[in-house]
Amino acid sequence: MSHPITEQLTTPIEPRSVGTEVRRVDGVAKVTGRATFAVEHDAGEMPDPLHLWLVQSQVARGRITRVDTDAALAHPGVVAVLDHTNAPRLADTSDGELAILQDERVHFRGQIVACVLAETPEAAREGAALVHVDVTASDHEVDMGDADDAYAPDTVNPAYPTDTSEGDVEAALAGAEVVVEQTYRTPFEHNNPMEPHALVARWEERPDGPHLDLFDSTQGVFSVRRTLAPMLGLAPERVRVRAPYVGGGFGSKGVPHSPEMAAVLAARTAGGRPVKLAVTRQQMFALTGYRTATVSRFRLGARPDGTLVAIDHRVVEQTSRVKEFAEQTATATRMMYAAPHRHTSHRLVPLDVAVPSWMRAPGEMPGMYAHEVAMDELAVACGIDPIVLRERNEPDVDPESGLPFGNRRLLDCFARGAERFGWADRPAGPRATRDGDWWVGTGVASATYPAYTAPGNAARVASLEGGRYAVSVGAVDLGTGARTVLAQIAADALGVDLEDIDLAIADTLLPPASVAGGSSGTSSWGGAIVAAAQRFRADHGGHPDPGVETTASAADDPDKKRLAHHSFGAVFAEARVHRATGEIRVTRLLGVYSVGRVLNPVTARSQFLGGLVMGLSSGLFEESWRDPRFGHVVTQDLASYHVASHADVLGVEAEWLDEEDTAVSPMGARGIGEIGIVGTAAAVANATYHATGVRVRDLPVTADRFVE
Ligand code: MOS
Repeated sequence: MSHPITEQLTTPIEPRSVGTEVRRVDGVAKVTGRATFAVEHDAGEMPDPLHLWLVQSQVARGRITRVDTDAALAHPGVVAVLDHTNAPRLADTSDGELAILQDERVHFRGQIVACVLAETPEAAREGAALVHVDVTASDHEVDMGDADDAYAPDTVNPAYPTDTSEGDVEAALAGAEVVVEQTYRTPFEHNNPMEPHALVARWEERPDGPHLDLFDSTQGVFSVRRTLAPMLGLAPERVRVRAPYVGGGFGSKGVPHSPEMAAVLAARTAGGRPVKLAVTRQQMFALTGYRTATVSRFRLGARPDGTLVAIDHRVVEQTSRVKEFAEQTATATRMMYAAPHRHTSHRLVPLDVAVPSWMRAPGEMPGMYAHEVAMDELAVACGIDPIVLRERNEPDVDPESGLPFGNRRLLDCFARGAERFGWADRPAGPRATRDGDWWVGTGVASATYPAYTAPGNAARVASLEGGRYAVSVGAVDLGTGARTVLAQIAADALGVDLEDIDLAIADTLLPPASVAGGSSGTSSWGGAIVAAAQRFRADHGGHPDPGVETTASAADDPDKKRLAHHSFGAVFAEARVHRATGEIRVTRLLGVYSVGRVLNPVTARSQFLGGLVMGLSSGLFEESWRDPRFGHVVTQDLASYHVASHADVLGVEAEWLDEEDTAVSPMGARGIGEIGIVGTAAAVANATYHATGVRVRDLPVTADRFVE
């Protein structure tokens, strides 16, 4: 199945289907239940599966002294119990999150310490309750506390410098006429995609050795293979991963987590039978990653007219002792506004907790919350409009790299948003408007997100009967609409109708694709599809005989590195705060974005609105808590961890500028998946300040802050 991959320099496509409102090609399959999500693969290639249930540690740190499996094994439905004494050995145990069931150490509360295989899910669950694990507990630390053991990581996610410095920020702050010096905190938060993590795993003995086959709910089939294969001591070709339908992820399915490894290890012992694991909602709060808590110490120095002279952003955040994750909280601060003196830093507090990971806009979300509330405080301190403040601090070039921006239209977003939102009528505040018992206020914030294009993507184009084409790329549609948009891109690149494209995705037997993450999917996979289509047409013309095929990847465009590529947005919020109870209602929320060409207004609007709602949710509701005595996450269901629901969401609107950015991709698109969450919580918090005069610096913004 290996095909030579040609490198092809792409040229911009002629948009025909792209840019039009194409309904999701898999919409009918999804709403009629015919789309097969991971655990629905229990026949065909995955016949007669066994069911797996996880046994989790009840202490935050310690050593397992004994696992008593007798009662579980006596259960009539239980087939096997795996623990650290009998689980298959891994070839590489350096990944502390994934190297489960390998030794007696417990690193965090909720860690997988055993798992039970049974004929039914009910028997597996009952069996798990019968497993008794003796642990000698040691002292643990799950609170950031005074952070006196914070350390500097080598880099922050994914590979940014930990600290940056330019000019003399201390001298500039000492000499500044206006200084805002405040600390902003964001809580730790959990991803809650509709479909919890799930997979079906099966091992097969073939003449050349063992092969592993997965249907996994993941954002990246190749990422799963690349991570798991070496740990299992397998050549990558012996691992096949498919993810035909995925019910959301937000980053939590961007890298494999320990439940995937549990199912894979259990399946290794199952004599060729498939093993199915459906992680529960409660288990997700322990096992599938989360956004770390952050503390941002901001110092802004400015002239009386608001012109910044110094920006200092020092971050302390939490990581896990078992594996490091360093959220890139200050990276947006490095490129957002002009100021001659600048400093950013990240420090990590290692704790006996599960490993933090990606959650929509890791870095930009908590960092821009802090930055954009600080900017609002500066606008108040200078007595100027917050949009005017952004205008006065618009940089000529990327302050971080010195490169010109490819397409920086932040101020156009503000101008359009101000017009649509009616910003000109905003009264000076705070406490300028009352409607009955409700204080009413408005606020703004900037949004930004880098335009990433991931390397290592390829696509295949093959001609079929009747002028049709099979187009394949190993990308995953985690619910964003990628399956639809990639078919549109293929149609335009090949100059045919959308109906003439047979698109195959989400399988490691297809050409390699990067993870659906970092808002990079469409530009990366789309670029590969355009490369394959343009190579195909160059080699075979427009109407080749059936059976001709080309596999290609997009060649690096050296010009791309001469510009700084980022998307921008302006978020406007209107909040009402009840003067007696402090209840908060966000009555209007508007995001205006500059993201290059919008390839499909239907699916793009859904991404923007989803991002805005998730930002609203982080602004008002989302907050996880650990019990410091036992180390567990207390908020481990959707009752105690509230995610914005219909009743919380009133007037949310998204709009985008009409533009294209062919320096980033031949479709003219940048990414759109994450920017909607960035800045949104700050706009909400700034609106509640304008309403009430109460400045909230720690998320979420809750009613108690406004009650006297
Ligand atoms: Mo997204 S947090 O990059 O999967």
